[in-house]
This record gives sequence, C-alpha cells and structure tokens, in this order.
Amino acid sequence: MTKLRAAITGVQGYVPEYILTNKELETMVDTTDEWILTRTGISQRHILKGEGKGTSDMAAEAVKGLLKKTNTLPEEVEVIIVATVTPDMVFPATANIVSDKCGLKNAWGFDLGAACSGFLYALTTGARLIEAGSHKKVIVVGGDKMSSIIDYEDRQTCVIFGDGCGAVMLEPTSEEVGVMDSILRSDGAGREFLHQKAGGSVKPASHQTVDNREHFVYQEGKSVFKFAVTNMADVAAEIMERNNLHSDDVAWLVPHQANKRIIDATAQRMGLSPEKVMVNIERYGNTTAGTIPLCLWEWEKQLKKGDNVILAAFGGGFTWGAVWLKWAYNS
Ligand code: UT7
Repeated sequence: MTKLRAAITGVQGYVPEYILTNKELETMVDTTDEWILTRTGISQRHILKGEGKGTSDMAAEAVKGLLKKTNTLPEEVEVIIVATVTPDMVFPATANIVSDKCGLKNAWGFDLGAACSGFLYALTTGARLIEAGSHKKVIVVGGDKMSSIIDYEDRQTCVIFGDGCGAVMLEPTSEEVGVMDSILRSDGAGREFLHQKAGGSVKPASHQTVDNREHFVYQEGKSVFKFAVTNMADVAAEIMERNNLHSDDVAWLVPHQANKRIIDATAQRMGLSPEKVMVNIERYGNTTAGTIPLCLWEWEKQLKKGDNVILAAFGGGFTWGAVWLKWAYNS
C-alpha cells in the first residue's frame, strides 16, 4: 500500500496593523533601540489593538486567506488545530471560535499549548491525522496575541514579543513530499524559568494577583537563552543526522524567532549559510506560536517543490523540536 504523507498545500499569515517600534518603547521603559537591536535583532513588532479583539481575530484572517488561496470551501475543512498560549478565553477553545468566524461548519478542533514550539507540535499532530487516512483537510494555526500577557513596565520582556498568526492547510499525498520526520521534546522542569504565575487553577485571578502583576509573562531570560541555544541547535542537528541530510541537502532553515543570536547558533551548528535561514524577527519580534508559519508565508514564493526544509523551535515548558519537510508545491 502507498504510504500517505501530509503535505502543506498552502500557507497564509496575518499581522495586525499597529507597529510598536523600539523608539516608542524607549518612551515606555528604560531601554534603547541599540540595546534591543544588538541583544535580540528586533526593530519593531505588530500589536493587535481594539477592544474585544483576540487571537481568534488574527487566526480568522489567516484562515480566510488560506481558504481562498487553496480554493477550499469552509465546509470542506475537517479539523482545525490552533497552537496558542493566548486563547481568547480559558474555554471554549479558540479553535471553536475560529471555526465559527470562518464558517468551518463540519470541522472539529482543539487548542494546543506548547508555547513557542506549539506550531511544530500541532503540525505533527495534524500530519498524523492525514497519514492515518481518516482526514483529508486539516488546518494548523500557530499564533499569539502576546501583548495580552506582556507587562509593558517590564523591559526584560516587553521589548521581545509581538502579535501575529499563521495557518497552513494539510492534505494527503502519495508523493515523496510533505512532513517527512519530527522530533518533539519537553521538560516540565524548565517551567520555573518561563511561565505566567496566575490565572490558572493553581492561582486563580484575584485582586492580589492583579496587584502583583502576576498575569504577565515571567521570564528568566539568561537561563532560557542557555537552554534554547543548546537544545534548538541539538534537535535541528539530530533530525538531519537521523535522516542522513547534509548541509548541502537543506534548502531552508525555518527557526523560531526568539533571538537572532539563538538563530545564528542553530544555523552554524547545521552548517548553513545565512541565505538559507528565514529571519523576520527584526519586523515581527517573537510571536510565540506564530513565528514559523509567518516565515513560511513570507518565503512561500521562494520555496520550490522538493526543497528540504527544517523547522526548529524552543520555548516555554520547556518544549522544543524539529520537523523535516519536503516542500510540496511551487507557487
Ligand atoms: O521564545 C521563548 C523562549 N525565549 C527565549 O528564547 C529568550 C531567551 N533569552 C533571550 O533572548 C535573552 O536572554 C534576552 C533578550 C531576554 C536578554 O538578553 P541578555 O543578553 O541575556 O541580557 P541579560 O538578561 O543578561 O541582561 C543584561 C543587562 C542587564 O543589566 P545589568 O544587570 O548587566 O546591569 C539587564 O538589566 O541588560 C539589562 N537589560 C536591558 N537593558 C536595556 C535587560 N533588558 C533590557 C532592555 N533594555 N530592554
């Protein structure tokens, strides 16, 4: 029997209009454009403004564009997986809300929380549904409204994060393209370095948690940096080794956009020159689950059928991983 693979057949991104520049941040916290640019590689990030607007609004824009681009009717979609740590609400799932906003009447779906590795976890999960032969059209979304959980008085975190979202369509193929391999990892002991203290079942919201500013991202940057540099580079090298891929075989690295220095270390470990590395952190900052699909969206026209593409991420959890794709189409 021919092996079914899950191919990405389209990608669409969405970033909100408002641009928060390093210059504007200089007026909000004790920082400088120079510090942010040299320590992270970020110049600006997009922020979703407007009361009542959440992650689902960005996801719905991406999904509507994706449906149009792939000539898919909303009712044809069978599953939608939304990777996010900033769901619209604790429940129901943002996937349900996006389905409603986009008319995905026949889809079931769920949210997946794996922070910056969320898109890789969701892509791998969606691919398994296609490979099993039980589903033919699965949408995988990665996106976050990080501005909803960022303390704009904390210079250590507010300069890093931005809002944005990307979505891909997965469909079956019997060709040798699509999701070829994945390595996904996690280590819950890392939660002490990167988390949100309140708002979950351990510490529900109270006047005190609000007064203590505990509903925001807490990050011990230096520690996270150390783990990220090692683990992202290791897992990217591991997926190449176990599939006998050499640097010349790899057309593109699509790294999670957390810090330009982490990206450079990963590319170096894989033996890749900078032209093969997708980097847009300068314009979008760290959009958590959104970074990788936003890169694929921006580079879509340069991707060619058969290209070996390595996706790699590291983030809160800790979670990390790498996915090897053979790109499935020319656009
Ligand atoms: O995507 C999820 C996973 N997250 C990551 O991968 C993030 C990993 N970590 C990082 O990217 C980096 O650790 C940061 C960008 C968060 C920080 O860069 P760093 O080079 O590790 O800086 P640091 O935390 O060691 O701070 C160096 C100095 C400190 O001052 P002193 O103690 O040396 O006087 C900080 O207080 O820089 C200071 N600092 C700032 N200065 C100006 C920290 N934030 C800022 C700021 N502007 N925004």
